[in-house]
Amino acid sequence: MTPDEWLKKYVTILTDLGDKTSKSEATISYGPHTLLKIIAVYYYAEMFAKIAKGEKARSRGYDAAVYLDLFAGPGLVAVDGIGDFVAGSPIAATSTKYKFDYSIFVEIDEDRAEALRKRLSQYLTQDRFEVLTGDSNAIVPEIISKIKSKCKKPIVFAFIDPQGMEAKWSTAKQLSAGFKSLDFMINVTSGAARVAGRIQSGKVGDRPIFEDFFGQNAEEILTKINNGVRVEAIFEDGVKDVLGRPQGETISICDSGNRVMYHLLCYTRESWTGSPWAQGFRELKKQIELADGVSVRRMLDVVRKRQSPL
Ligand SMILES: C[S@@+](CC[C@H](N)C(=O)[O-])C[C@H]1O[C@@H](n2cnc3c(N)ncnc32)[C@H](O)[C@@H]1O
Repeated sequence: MTPDEWLKKYVTILTDLGDKTSKSEATISYGPHTLLKIIAVYYYAEMFAKIAKGEKARSRGYDAAVYLDLFAGPGLVAVDGIGDFVAGSPIAATSTKYKFDYSIFVEIDEDRAEALRKRLSQYLTQDRFEVLTGDSNAIVPEIISKIKSKCKKPIVFAFIDPQGMEAKWSTAKQLSAGFKSLDFMINVTSGAARVAGRIQSGKVGDRPIFEDFFGQNAEEILTKINNGVRVEAIFEDGVKDVLGRPQGETISICDSGNRVMYHLLCYTRESWTGSPWAQGFRELKKQIELADGVSVRRMLDVVRKRQSPL
């Protein structure tokens, strides 16, 4: 498959899901590069659920595949400046051909949470999902016990997609301690990099955000930032070492050329599933990094037949 064919396949999946999804509730809007993030979630969720529901997982005693979306949004994303709608991460992750047994979504904004509840009920039966309205940092213990009350040995995929630094480090740590078999996809946005940049240039006003985010490790991390370590590298080390998920890739998502908007950290623990997993990560990184917001926008035009195929 050429890079264009790969991108077309996934842009088509997201726009088809967007077409099918109710438009009458709240939406959010982001630039075309956001599709690359949602494609990454779709791709990872499909690969994850296929393995988590497979024979090998069953024979190891895993009894459920669980999807956790801590910054879920309303389920439908409007693409800035175009008017197209695509599925947001909750609908994308749960609409691949391999289904999760159970999913939990958390959204702090009541209108968005309600919109998501309605939209998901188009796709999933009520016993398969729950939308919690609230601050995911505050309710993570509740989330862990909900999952544990439903399954004995779950295998969990957690997507953490804040806009800036709203997801606290302690949230990922609690999840990591709660579930042995949990994979992370964490979006470190350019918002977090900007905060780090401001601190580095001596603006102390942003320190509380960092301190709140990193808790007791803040001082050590601020020293690293002041020594020029990039914020995504700090996160990457944290996910590998502190959270104990050493295998995976950090994927850069650009809006135009090399201008990075998101670093998607996709990490798992030492793989019990062997090489297909690592290959999947590598393939995802390769394809996502060949595209940018400009090529996604062009592909939306092709898929929507506003422009003839290249
Ligand atoms: C980047 S958007 C998520 C987009 C979504 N993942 C998608 O692909 O469609 C971040 C969302 O997190 C919500 N949010 C912000 N702080 C939150 C918190 N502490 N707990 C839960 N949700 C939060 C925002 O209201 C917003 O809808």
